Amino acid sequence: KQEGQPLRQRQRLLVVANRLPVSAVRRGEDSWSLDVSAGGLVSALLGVKEFEAKWIGWAGVNVPDEIGQKALTKALAEKRCIPVFLDEEIVHQYYNGYCNNILWPLFHYLGLPQEDRLATTRSFQSQFAAYKKANQMFADVVNEHYLEGDVVWCHDYHLMFLPKCLKDYNSKMKVGWFLHTPFPSSEIHRTLPSRSELLRSVLAADLVGFHTYDYARHFVSACTRILGLEGTPEGVEDQGRLTRVAAFPIGIDSERFIRALEVPQVQEHIRELKERFAGRKVMLGVDRLDMIKGIPQKILAFEKFLEENPSWRDKVVLLQIAVPTRTDVPEYQKLTSQVHEIVGRINGRFGTLTAVPIHHLDRSLDFHALCALYAVTDVALVTSLRDGMNLVSYEFVACQDAKKGVLILSEFAGAAQSLGAGAILVNPWNITEVANSIAQALNMDSEEREKRHKHNFIHVTTHTAQEWAETFVSELNDTVVEAQIRTRE
Ligand code: G6P
Repeated sequence: KQEGQPLRQRQRLLVVANRLPVSAVRRGEDSWSLDVSAGGLVSALLGVKEFEAKWIGWAGVNVPDEIGQKALTKALAEKRCIPVFLDEEIVHQYYNGYCNNILWPLFHYLGLPQEDRLATTRSFQSQFAAYKKANQMFADVVNEHYLEGDVVWCHDYHLMFLPKCLKDYNSKMKVGWFLHTPFPSSEIHRTLPSRSELLRSVLAADLVGFHTYDYARHFVSACTRILGLEGTPEGVEDQGRLTRVAAFPIGIDSERFIRALEVPQVQEHIRELKERFAGRKVMLGVDRLDMIKGIPQKILAFEKFLEENPSWRDKVVLLQIAVPTRTDVPEYQKLTSQVHEIVGRINGRFGTLTAVPIHHLDRSLDFHALCALYAVTDVALVTSLRDGMNLVSYEFVACQDAKKGVLILSEFAGAAQSLGAGAILVNPWNITEVANSIAQALNMDSEEREKRHKHNFIHVTTHTAQEWAETFVSELNDTVVEAQIRTRE
């Protein structure tokens, strides 16, 4: 570059999500320690070289005082993160309430929480008001940091009201919204008292994305049936304005997993695990401890398998990693005790003095330990009752090029549409079917395992998180151009 020549600036991407990819722990009045999580979304966006990504979101902690807020803002800036400060009451009503007690179960076809259905219905209005208020707070922060030419990418069900708030501020802002959960059938969505307001707000975006074609179709149907708008192959049209709606299936940073298997520490861990479980086949479940993941159903299916296949009882072990999540929501607390009760019963029933059939861990594992576990697994069980995509299935496949283990995968996970040909697909509600699939997987010959694995491995290594992010953002840029062309015409 010659002196005096301006640097070609990268386009700025403002990623707005409920949670920042950082966990913050307060160490003193004005000091914080930050731990950056290296989840799929983070590596996807860091991998996109054309953009300079900044994150806007909640840091997951209550910071009531100004000194703490200032110090945290400063610490986060170094990680390219900008905080939105939510107080305890808002978190309770917006995050625990409207997001996780209403939208989350509904979008996953589980309905409202059973025991307090009436109470939830009663608190609906106040929780929705808090939801809108929180979304407005996110919009205020975005607006404060927005520079002309930036692209704003809003994420997930927490922020359905955000596209409208942003366009109200500035109709020229390029706004995309992506849903990481399923979008349910319009018959489910229409039960929501705020059904129209949410749809209209999402439609304010220029591009609306989903993991699968089915979710996109459900969304378009909801807009045509509930709002009476016109659905076109391109998206949804409202008085001449088109909101583009499309499927953008997410992936993982597969290279990161493949490379990790070469790390000496991981190889050492693999050796230890092999020794520890020598003579037994390893079955693995890795889930957040969430009702959508179907953990009790999976464990009951494993029990049925042991019941019907006595010769396998001392030759197989199920390792279930259940990562605690949303622990303030009563439904999640109930689920934890339910799972513990079932695991205890089955271990009591089939365990011996020296071994138990289920190892259940209520915690997350670090990245290297997780990779080692994936690599030694013979059969992975991903039996979500519903799941937007499910990237555990992708991570397992990425770590299995040596072993070529079998993936048992719920037909109700978005991943079934991409990994269906290589996996054994199951209906997780049908415990007999899952138990039979466990037997099929454990007895599968190496030729068939290899064929199935190859199919999935090619998919996982070619449809990466980076490709997903690039496709979405470039399409978002194009939609705006298209809109301008249409206006000029
Ligand atoms: C799902 C959602 C994400 C969310 C994650 C963890 O994957 O789609 O938006 O961040 O769960 O849940 P939490 O409530 O802990 O952020």
